[in-house]
Amino acid sequence: MARRWLVTGCSSGLGQALAAAAAEAGDEVVATARKPAALEDLRRRHGGRILPLALDVRDAEQCRNAVAAAVDRLGGLDVLVNNAGNGVFGTVEEVGDEELRDQLETLVVGPWRLARLVLPVLRAQGSGHVLNVSSLSGRMSFPGLAAYVTGKHALEGMTQALAAEAAPFGIRVAALEPAGYATRYGTSLTDAADRSALYRDATEPMREQLRGMAQLPTVSRPEDFARDVLRIVAADTPLPVRIPVGAGSLDSIAAAVHAGAEELAAVRGLLDG
Ligand SMILES: NC(=O)c1ccc[n+]([C@@H]2O[C@H](COP(=O)([O-])OP(=O)(O)OC[C@H]3O[C@@H](n4cnc5c(N)ncnc54)[C@H](OP(=O)(O)O)[C@@H]3O)[C@@H](O)[C@H]2O)c1
Repeated sequence: MARRWLVTGCSSGLGQALAAAAAEAGDEVVATARKPAALEDLRRRHGGRILPLALDVRDAEQCRNAVAAAVDRLGGLDVLVNNAGNGVFGTVEEVGDEELRDQLETLVVGPWRLARLVLPVLRAQGSGHVLNVSSLSGRMSFPGLAAYVTGKHALEGMTQALAAEAAPFGIRVAALEPAGYATRYGTSLTDAADRSALYRDATEPMREQLRGMAQLPTVSRPEDFARDVLRIVAADTPLPVRIPVGAGSLDSIAAAVHAGAEELAAVRGLLDG
């Protein structure tokens, strides 16, 4: 069955690979990017199956226009993938109000708004998917990535609420938790304006690791992500609400869940004694 997709952040990386794979599978994809010129190659390779649109997810009017245009041109929608994302690098003390707001606009407010706009369409059909691309950072936290981690944790909280709210209408919702894909994510992080030498020792190893992420030997390919998302959308079994994908994501999250259980045991020891 051919599906109709709206995917954000298709200028590169996971979004671009997903749009290409869905089009190759015979689906129709509204592929969006802040600069639509970045979608030209996708459109050339996949012809009429890719509909390029301008969308900065922080812009409410562009979000409304994108959903309206997608529904108008495709006659409906089956899958929304909130994939667009970026990161500001800095500690809690270093990240300023505006930088934090901007980070949350991209990682939380934009995806929330797009879900709100798409839900009536999916509800009327009685089917569809909302997939929010979170991160390993939606479950774990890392020094220097406070704003990004906050955004991804918030996105997961919203996803879990939405999954329960939308299920009675036949709408399937999940957070995808990527880690370790070779994309430009690690190099596209911007530094907080007020970086301080005080935190360099605590945060620089993480900064270096992210810069070199795409070159790690254990890295996964964006095409693997795309293949997994197509499988997730085609699955006829109930979906887990949070789905780790990519090199080491599941193992890292399993270790974090185990550490969380140990932490709870320590809390019992502290408060029951
Ligand atoms: N790669 C990984 O291993 C990994 C791990 C954890 C989470 N993720 C998540 O996966 C998603 C895709 O990232 P990626 O790895 O494919 O990195 P990427 O290649 O840097 O792609 C990120 C995409 O998001 C777009 N974007 C950023 N801010 C936007 C905004 N305000 N409005 C619309 N588009 C915006 C970028 O567009 P421009 O070209 O306009 O900047 C780009 O197309 C992100 O949500 C990221 O947090 C990836």
